[in-house]
Amino acid sequence: MCSPGKAELIHVFKGIPFTTRSSPELLKSLDNFDAREDDVLLVSYPKSGTHWLAGVITKLYNTQVTLTSPIEFGDISKLEELDKLSSRRIIPTHLDYNMLPPNFKKKKCKMIYISRNPKDTAVSMYHYYRDNPNLPTVDTWTAFFDLFLKGDVVCGSWFDHFLSWEEHKNESNILFLFYEDMKKDLPKIVKDITVFLDINISDHEIHDICKKSSFSEMKTNTEKENSNPNHTVCALTSNRRLVFRKGTVGDWKNHFTPKQNLKFEEIFNEKMKLSNM
Ligand code: A3P
Repeated sequence: MCSPGKAELIHVFKGIPFTTRSSPELLKSLDNFDAREDDVLLVSYPKSGTHWLAGVITKLYNTQVTLTSPIEFGDISKLEELDKLSSRRIIPTHLDYNMLPPNFKKKKCKMIYISRNPKDTAVSMYHYYRDNPNLPTVDTWTAFFDLFLKGDVVCGSWFDHFLSWEEHKNESNILFLFYEDMKKDLPKIVKDITVFLDINISDHEIHDICKKSSFSEMKTNTEKENSNPNHTVCALTSNRRLVFRKGTVGDWKNHFTPKQNLKFEEIFNEKMKLSNM
């Protein structure tokens, strides 16, 4: 059987490629989304550590919270579904800042943006594309590398996404995090998150949460609860094994040729001229 082609899996909305699992009706209706003041948004470009962050945050609360699937995934019934939730909503999203439902901004909801070295993000996304039947087929790393740099991948250009959020990183309701910092010193980052979210928790509990959020723990737990789509932050697959691949920093070095690295750096320096990164 032939795997579905790009045209069947991807559509472009406001210039950004989305999978057909994000219906155009839902995307259009997001502008009217009714945010609540206590909503917490987990924002990321795909493959930046969203599941990891979600795993940490859901363990921090001692009141009931509901981790939803990304706000932009699904059809128009999504809004009603989210509206019915009575507990605090932890809502992931891959939307860029400009497409974020305006009510989240008006109500100053807390938002945590997690970013990752785009070279590692590209490699992670390549494997995700390759193994995920819900995404267009990519034949080689070289082909994917070019698509990534052009922003011709789901959620569009990494650079545009990052820059759209970076512009707002000093707003008091936005916390900017890096995957690499979480790898280096998770307890410190978790502490920062608790301060940002006003959560009172002991160092001992933080230590315990960090242990439970290690790559190996999360991967093992995932294998036990495999295939339950309600447990996935990324609605592009119900196979969570695709999400927990390697969990390391610097895997790009195993994929990038020296020439690709040069090209990437050139484009990075050009696009990120105005960034403080
Ligand atoms: P790799 O493909 O490089 O392994 P997302 O959740 O945004 O889809 O990101 C997935 C990436 O985060 C994958 O990267 C995955 O392995 C990594 N990841 C998930 N949980 C992790 C954890 N507990 N520790 C470190 N990395 C983790």
